[in-house]
Amino acid sequence: MSLIEMKHLRLIDTIHQVGSLKNAAERLYLTQSALSHQLKELESRLETRIFHRVNNKLVFTPSGKAIRDAAKEVLEKMQALENAIQETKKDNLKDYIHGYSKAETVRLNNQAKSVEQILHWDSKWDSGSLILEAGCGVGSQTIIIARLNPESRFVSVDLSSRSLKKAQESIDQNQIENVAFQQADILKLPFEDDYFDHIFLCFVLEHLSKPMDAVQELKRVLKPKGTITLIEGDHGSTYFYPDSINAMKAVEAQVRLQKMKGGNPNIGRELYPILDKSGFTDIVVSPRQVYVDDSKPELVEGFIKNTFTAMIEGISDEALAQKIIDKKELDCGIEDLYRTADGGGTFCYTFFKAQASL
Ligand SMILES: C[S@@+](CC[C@H](N)C(=O)[O-])C[C@H]1O[C@@H](n2cnc3c(N)ncnc32)[C@H](O)[C@@H]1O
Repeated sequence: MSLIEMKHLRLIDTIHQVGSLKNAAERLYLTQSALSHQLKELESRLETRIFHRVNNKLVFTPSGKAIRDAAKEVLEKMQALENAIQETKKDNLKDYIHGYSKAETVRLNNQAKSVEQILHWDSKWDSGSLILEAGCGVGSQTIIIARLNPESRFVSVDLSSRSLKKAQESIDQNQIENVAFQQADILKLPFEDDYFDHIFLCFVLEHLSKPMDAVQELKRVLKPKGTITLIEGDHGSTYFYPDSINAMKAVEAQVRLQKMKGGNPNIGRELYPILDKSGFTDIVVSPRQVYVDDSKPELVEGFIKNTFTAMIEGISDEALAQKIIDKKELDCGIEDLYRTADGGGTFCYTFFKAQASL
């Protein structure tokens, strides 16, 4: 380990900026004695003085000056690195196909509610568990799983601070108290190894260019014998009546656009191999088909119109801009998807829910 730590560099740089130990302690939220302790620690490790007191003023010694100049340089480099990482995150967010509009928030909430029974009848963990929800978005699934597991605690993370704010509002409105939200990247989680009892993730791997890397990182923070639950869709499982070539072309346009952005909306079928290659055991994949006809008016509204077709409408502008489909085909395709929700139509889509343990 180096004799000089980051805390020492921050200390020296702050003292240089504010000119006194008292002001530096305030700026760094330290007590004066803690600050003096750090200073003495550094001087004793380096076996040299950093300051002299001249007329009640702090004057840097030659060693102090060298540390002061190096501290400035290192801290600026650290800041530049942090800025670059923030930019990378913005790029990740920019590539996220559905975006973060109000309409998308409504769509995610509709999606979660409309298929709640199909996806979550078995989303239950031992009471007292600590569960990581990875990629919680605006909290649409969070509300459901937190309510189903009132004796467990959830840490729900997402890359988007805007989504987390909405998620927090929604949890507060619903008076749910067993969830803490945190901004984090699934590919680099800010948690120790073996930290969580269980992990839950829904509709996120489909957006990642390296889903296996994400699963590896989730595995790292999972305790031995812990479990992972993944839910993903698979657009290849979409079929409907009345059939329509344009509607199928519109769905295919969404698949191509998402793949261009590095994702894979047909990932549902790959969950078993992903978990298997990642070293999980006891893998069980359960296809959850949503079948809609006139006898299920809530699914006609909630799923066909407000989840699936709303999703295709949501990517229309970008699909046209990327020239993946022509406008006439897309408009007719969307109209035909809505037609399956008119009397006499039917619609099928299959989600995949995978559960496995370490
Ligand atoms: C389709 S939304 C699903 C949200 C929620 N799980 C649901 O089912 O309603 C996908 C979410 O994954 C998040 N996401 C994408 N990549 C991520 C990453 N690397 N780390 C954390 N969150 C990520 C996005 O910000 C977005 O909120």
